[in-house]
Amino acid sequence: MRRPVLSRKLEGFGTTIFAEMSALAAATGAVNLGQGFPDSDGPREVLDAAVAAMRSGQNQYPPGPGTADLRHAIAEHQQRFYGIEVDPDTEVFVTTGATEAIAASLLGLLDPGDEVVAFEPYYDSYAACIAMAGAVRRPVTLRTPDFALDHDELRRAVTPRTKLVLLNTPHNPIGKVFSREDLDAIAAVAIEHDLIVISDEVYEHLVFDGVHTPIASLPGMAERTITVSSAGKTFSFTGWKVGWVCAPPDLVAAVRTAKQFLTYVSGAPFQPAVTVGLRLPDSYFEEFTNDLRIKRDRLCAGLEEAGFLVFRPAGTYFITTDIRPLGEDDGLEFCRSLADRCGVVAVPNVVFYDDKVEGGPLVRFAFCKRHEVIDEAVARLKGLAR
Ligand SMILES: Cc1ncc(COP(=O)(O)O)c(C=O)c1O
Repeated sequence: MRRPVLSRKLEGFGTTIFAEMSALAAATGAVNLGQGFPDSDGPREVLDAAVAAMRSGQNQYPPGPGTADLRHAIAEHQQRFYGIEVDPDTEVFVTTGATEAIAASLLGLLDPGDEVVAFEPYYDSYAACIAMAGAVRRPVTLRTPDFALDHDELRRAVTPRTKLVLLNTPHNPIGKVFSREDLDAIAAVAIEHDLIVISDEVYEHLVFDGVHTPIASLPGMAERTITVSSAGKTFSFTGWKVGWVCAPPDLVAAVRTAKQFLTYVSGAPFQPAVTVGLRLPDSYFEEFTNDLRIKRDRLCAGLEEAGFLVFRPAGTYFITTDIRPLGEDDGLEFCRSLADRCGVVAVPNVVFYDDKVEGGPLVRFAFCKRHEVIDEAVARLKGLAR
């Protein structure tokens, strides 16, 4: 039997590693700092709103673009935090998580053979969805130690076949918050070559140093940008899978065309709940960021004490480390053995790279966990160097 084309194109990528690591954690009782999900629920009023919606019968197919109330709340959020105006009826569209927003955007916009410039390491669904669209990824590598964007490399990655740029800021797994200079450079390239930008901003409220700037807020960018976000990270309900795009009507139409054949509509009772979340006062968003900042600092300090080279993230849930100071250089093997060696699970960054040499010695730890869980993981990791 011939091997399926898609799995050939995705050699070395894949969420299979998350499943493998989570299964390892479950089987061994290890502390799971692998997959990025919080170990406590989000705000009570948001949870209550979902329960109330279920009990009041909001359990059938909701409107395809998302409920009007949720679309209005998303538009208000863009205005409140970034001063961006979007029309809730024509420029906001609800999806089944950011994952579907990205998939539907790529499937709706790409023709076979089109090229996509993306910044590696990349969230692994990017490579998969580009491949599913029959398109080609053109990585621009963000390299250690500072994961700086090489503006010349970005310009060289663009060819006559390039149709879009796929950006993620704040960035999983390296925690980079793209600077204004970086965003200006990306915008300049997009405008010069008439490219679309898909900007994955699911960690928009998880910025600890600096500020999050949506690329759509830059001059000339609103008309060519699909901004993607999700309730999963902002409200700590990653299992609800409510995401959205904000984009001009022609780009929303492309997303809608693909989405209607992927999932048709998205989780009815969660939409009123996310509406409540988006309308929470500023204090919720501030406290959420502050809590995660403390966790970041706690795990960064612990990983340094345990002997890792730590790349301190400016945003997201994740800390990328280099294991070479521990005398090791194969992140995949390291992660596969870590549960047995010290009872902790992490994720090898190599699964986010085309450049397997650059990604090889890097390992990612998630800090969206309770303080005592972080402390237990650190205590165990300190045993490694002994
Ligand atoms: C960069 C990035 N984009 C998208 C997603 C997926 O978001 P959702 O769970 O809303 O589909 C994740 C989840 O880990 C992510 O890290």
